[in-house]
Amino acid sequence: MESLLNRLMRDRTLSDKDLRVLLESRDASLAEDLRRAAQETAVSRFGKQVYLRGLIEWSNVCRNDCLYCGIRRSNGNVARYTLTAREILNNCSRAWDMGLRTFVLQGGENPRGAEDLVEVVAQIRAQWPDVAITLSLGELPFDLYARLRQAGADRFLLRHETATPEHYARLHPAGMTIEHRLGCLRELRRLGFQTGMGMMVGSPWQTTENLIADLRLLEDFRPEMIGIGPFIPQKDTPLGEFPAGSPELTLKLYSIVRLMLPDALIPSTTALSTQMAGGRLAGILAGANVIMPNFSPMDRREDYSIYDGKPAADGAETLEKIKEELAAAGYSINPVRGDYLQH
Ligand code: 5AD
Repeated sequence: MESLLNRLMRDRTLSDKDLRVLLESRDASLAEDLRRAAQETAVSRFGKQVYLRGLIEWSNVCRNDCLYCGIRRSNGNVARYTLTAREILNNCSRAWDMGLRTFVLQGGENPRGAEDLVEVVAQIRAQWPDVAITLSLGELPFDLYARLRQAGADRFLLRHETATPEHYARLHPAGMTIEHRLGCLRELRRLGFQTGMGMMVGSPWQTTENLIADLRLLEDFRPEMIGIGPFIPQKDTPLGEFPAGSPELTLKLYSIVRLMLPDALIPSTTALSTQMAGGRLAGILAGANVIMPNFSPMDRREDYSIYDGKPAADGAETLEKIKEELAAAGYSINPVRGDYLQH
């Protein structure tokens, strides 16, 4: 019988049964073969190069109350902040000077605050016509998505978190649904955004079936960007006592997703490096091709604690480490915007 891995590489998909075997397997040599196949696929598309994204956490104000997230509305231990336009532009400028050509503005779900970002996006677009502007602002009214796009934003990250409706309901406050989230993602795509989805690995109550449903959703929607990280408990949340997700399983998912969607932009996430020493490079060697150094102001870092142990290193410092790590593995930075390209 043909090996499972050969079938995944040839068909770019697997049956539920095979996915279950792969996800639950503890066979180290199968894991290594999978990793190597995913790495080769990434290298065939992108070379031994990674794209950088400069992350700016513009506001921790959030109307939402996701049970896993440290900046949920009900967390009274968070000092809420919103960066001014000037602060955002200053940090973009810092990132630009270090060679970054994608800026990611990420924040809590806050439609009123996001109104003010329309003008900020227009200013970034005017000041740096050649950068990509990525937003990660949660579920917003569709007309606001449209105005942000009109102002010059190129990409939008909105992780689906889990594709299984019952599981989604357990991780989110009453009234939030995966259907609504998918409606937002379809609208973002219709507006011409490159669209990012993804899930947490090892979130409370997650089963292998849930992860298979996540992979099916990714295969079906085919997002340009796929962000996957381990769940990490945050002590001030209702899920703060649950165990963290497995970094090894996270790496396996990077590899499977790379083989299913070879052209996808896949970040080696900060959550992965938080859970695993050397995780950032391990993610790249497992098929990821994007790294997102943090350019948020240092004095706001502790207020953007979506999970415990989130590193506070500045983008400048991270960038030096990234370059060394990559060089040691024969990789380098590709200093371009790094848009999605169909190969
Ligand atoms: N652990 C891991 N990831 C988390 N996120 C939010 N809270 C946590 C947590 N406790 C992720 C979600 C969200 C992204 C911005 O951060 O997937 O979409």
